[in-house]
Amino acid sequence: MKVKLIETIEEMRAFSKNAKSKNLSIGYVPTMGALHDGHVSLMKKAVEQNDIAVMTIFVNPIQFGPNEDYNKYPRTLEADLEKAEAAGISAVFFPSATELTANLYSYIDINELQNNLCGTKRPGHFRGVCTIVGKFFNIIQPDNAYFGKKDIQQLYIIKQMVKDLNFDVKIIPCDIVREDDGLAMSSRNRYLSESERKDALVLSQSLKKAVTLHQQGEKSSQVLINSIRQEIEKISSAKIDYVSIVNEQMQDVCTVENKNIIALAVYIGNTRLIDNHIIGETLCF
Ligand code: PAF
Repeated sequence: MKVKLIETIEEMRAFSKNAKSKNLSIGYVPTMGALHDGHVSLMKKAVEQNDIAVMTIFVNPIQFGPNEDYNKYPRTLEADLEKAEAAGISAVFFPSATELTANLYSYIDINELQNNLCGTKRPGHFRGVCTIVGKFFNIIQPDNAYFGKKDIQQLYIIKQMVKDLNFDVKIIPCDIVREDDGLAMSSRNRYLSESERKDALVLSQSLKKAVTLHQQGEKSSQVLINSIRQEIEKISSAKIDYVSIVNEQMQDVCTVENKNIIALAVYIGNTRLIDNHIIGETLCF
């Protein structure tokens, strides 16, 4: 079926109300577009698990810092709509920044969970994410919402926001999707030159090495972090933003246990990439 393109809040609300009046469940996939196979896996899950699946494409200005890539973020609507339609998405909500984020007086802020990792490196980022996701939840009224584990801090923060603010939606975490060589899929991978694309493999490879060390019995967080740092420092185009091992409250840990997260953010040239692994989950790369 042809995907419906919706551009106003009023029309989106009417679409959702109509679905609800027919008792149809709504699955929701939030995105900023420039869709890749990681997004496709979220879309397919949403389609499978709900009567109707809705996706948003919105490059959210309030989650970018002043020196970040808001202006150059890839915008590929036509190709995105084709992917959405092929995955079976019923409607794509593509609102304007003027309608959605201009002149906002109210924001959703989250404390503890943003005081580490990307939260400290990108001040205001999660305030922007929570605010926009909260708005989308209110407009779309989804039953289930699908978030990738690549943005692991975002996933935990959104789960906490839903609990704290009593949003009536179930958050479904989805596994990281990787290229054949292990690079985690990201819309920002398209910024990489050919040589940077090769260098970017250091994220997944150093992560894999640390996970292997842990499986062999190494429990010291500092030893695992040092092993990752040493690998990354061999690559001249790479600059570490952070390498951390945290618990589910996003606090640094000394001894690595099940469910702890090894998380890293690394600049390859000018492109900031993130990756992570949750201890205890299958290493599939
Ligand atoms: O993960 C993203 O692409 C964005 O942070 C999200 C959830 C769509 C909010 O703008």
